[in-house]
Amino acid sequence: MATILFEKSADRSAVAVTLTEPECLVDVCDRVRAPVEFGCRAARCTTCRIEVLQGLSALNAPNEEESELLQVTGSGEKIRLACQVTVPASEALIHLRWIGPLTAI
Ligand code: FES
Repeated sequence: MATILFEKSADRSAVAVTLTEPECLVDVCDRVRAPVEFGCRAARCTTCRIEVLQGLSALNAPNEEESELLQVTGSGEKIRLACQVTVPASEALIHLRWIGPLTAI
């Protein structure tokens, strides 16, 4: 089972959730009202940028669209777009913090 810990944001509390099946992170966030904001949900706006504090290797690799946007925005290796992440059901502890959009892209 994968456990996801979401750091609190300015207006939402921290959340912890355990998955028994692989799931898209955007669906998890919607279901548990995680402190992550979304815009386009399609790797275009950067609203959903997260820093992966732990468990990066357990996540799917960035797809082409996500990789392009992360590269254009100069994001580091630990930065992902939550709308493009899939969380496995395998044993993993994933610790995330929403960092929000870049203002000039
Ligand atoms: S919600 Fe726009 S890039 Fe993820």
